[in-house]
Amino acid sequence: MLRGSILVVDDEAEIREGLEALLSSEHFEVTLADSAEAGLQELGERPFDLMLLDVSLPDGNGLDLLREIRQRDPALSVILITAYGSIDMARQAFKSGAHDYITKPWSNDELIAQVSQAIEGHRLREENVHLKRALKQRYNFPNIAGKSEKMLAIFDLVTQVAPSRSTVVIYGESGTGKELIAKAIHSASTRADKAFIPVNTGSIPSDLLESQLFGHVKGAFTSAIASKKGLFEIADQGTIFFDEISTVSPETQAKLLRVIQEREFMRLGGTDTIKVDVRILAASNENLMKLVRDGRFREDLYHRLNVISLQLPPLRDRKEDIPLLVDRFVEAFCLENGKPPRRFTHGAMKLLMDYDWPGNVRELENAVERAIVLSTQEAMDVDLLPESIRTREIVKGVRLQLAEFMPRMPGDQEDTGGTNHSASLFEILEEVERRIIVDMLERTNWNQTEAAEHFQIPLSTLNQKIKRLGIETRRRSNGARGAAAGFGDEPADFPAGK
Ligand SMILES: Nc1ncnc2c1ncn2[C@@H]1O[C@H](COP(=O)(O)OP(=O)(O)OP(=O)(O)O)[C@@H](O)[C@H]1O
Ligand SMILES: [Mg+2]
Repeated sequence: MLRGSILVVDDEAEIREGLEALLSSEHFEVTLADSAEAGLQELGERPFDLMLLDVSLPDGNGLDLLREIRQRDPALSVILITAYGSIDMARQAFKSGAHDYITKPWSNDELIAQVSQAIEGHRLREENVHLKRALKQRYNFPNIAGKSEKMLAIFDLVTQVAPSRSTVVIYGESGTGKELIAKAIHSASTRADKAFIPVNTGSIPSDLLESQLFGHVKGAFTSAIASKKGLFEIADQGTIFFDEISTVSPETQAKLLRVIQEREFMRLGGTDTIKVDVRILAASNENLMKLVRDGRFREDLYHRLNVISLQLPPLRDRKEDIPLLVDRFVEAFCLENGKPPRRFTHGAMKLLMDYDWPGNVRELENAVERAIVLSTQEAMDVDLLPESIRTREIVKGVRLQLAEFMPRMPGDQEDTGGTNHSASLFEILEEVERRIIVDMLERTNWNQTEAAEHFQIPLSTLNQKIKRLGIETRRRSNGARGAAAGFGDEPADFPAGK
């Protein structure tokens, strides 16, 4: 079992490799960076439990870097590596926010002890931060996870609009949490202890929808054997939520307009007007203004509804919320399925972060549920993620970069960015293969056995390929992700012709 993830930032290859060997043998997950810049890039891409940071780096002072990191992630544990030990150094280190420091040469046992302690400290701090945030959120919006600027802005808006009676339209792609936000608006309003009635407008034929909304009197139509209250009556004093308002037919739109304007309606087949006090919320994943322009949505109704509108960002635009959502879903589905605590490995987490989630939070929720249900041990790895997530990343990378390999054709744009490769199909395929293998090795932390398993080929075959393709099996020194990120920016290796 992995004991935590460590980022080593040191410009000396010997130190990096020594630390990597030592820490990996103690079951820590190690990522290497050879400069302050490479280190910052790694930090921006994924969370770490601990950073081992060289005080003197070629592109900057480690202490300056540390201050910058502190601002970004106050909870990250940092141990400084210094060539000399002095009281002054120690004082400076602690002042700039390091938790500990080690001096070269170090004792392995001591270093491991320091590292373990720092990681434990980080876990506790994170838990603490998480608890506090969770507490605050539970107070405000108990069911909604989100810490991105975009979601915090939504929370603010929800808080602002909730107390009024105004109609709100919530826009957003499928699965972004429109219904959840509608419920939050209701819960934060003075109507909280009255009904919240969601109406699934999309799946109901128009006349049935009307009888559901407005009710009917006995004999209004053949099957109306008794009078029935509609949802508007049931929602009186509360909130009614139209979950896909754009699907409502023009006739029903006219009736809705009347309820909104007059706050009254008649049951189907009835003659009495019924007065209600209902707040209306609506959601749409289509732009209603555009539907108005196309003549598919009543303009007067649009203006009545669109008093306040709220746009939920797609998940791919707020990836910093993914870890929080994952935590939340992991916990919930463990509980639901009676499983002990689970967590995703670094590799799996990276895929979850990289994927662009066309189905948004719902798709993420489903992916986590699937993983939990199928999991048999604490650490859930990439193999528990849906095929679509695992392959799409690789395919996307290949597709993006394929253009670079393609021989130029007569009539092609001249400046397609780069050298005019003239390579045979064989060379192109070989290069693609090479890059896919490097990418996988990066993902598996250069563990060939694991990479072979993912490729479903024998280790010996992978080994031969690695030799034949001339892949360096050692991690690149310019930042651990060098090769993966550079999928495409290493034309020097490409068999480019004249
Ligand atoms: N910020 C969030 N925190 C926790 N869970 C969320 C969040 N956003 C969405 N979900 C969950 O994702 C799922 C989809 O959310 P919801 O049904 O509100 O989306 P929607 O926008 O109404 O989707 P659709 O357009 O398909 O109707 C739900 O299970 C919801 O609980
Ligand atoms: Mg919905």
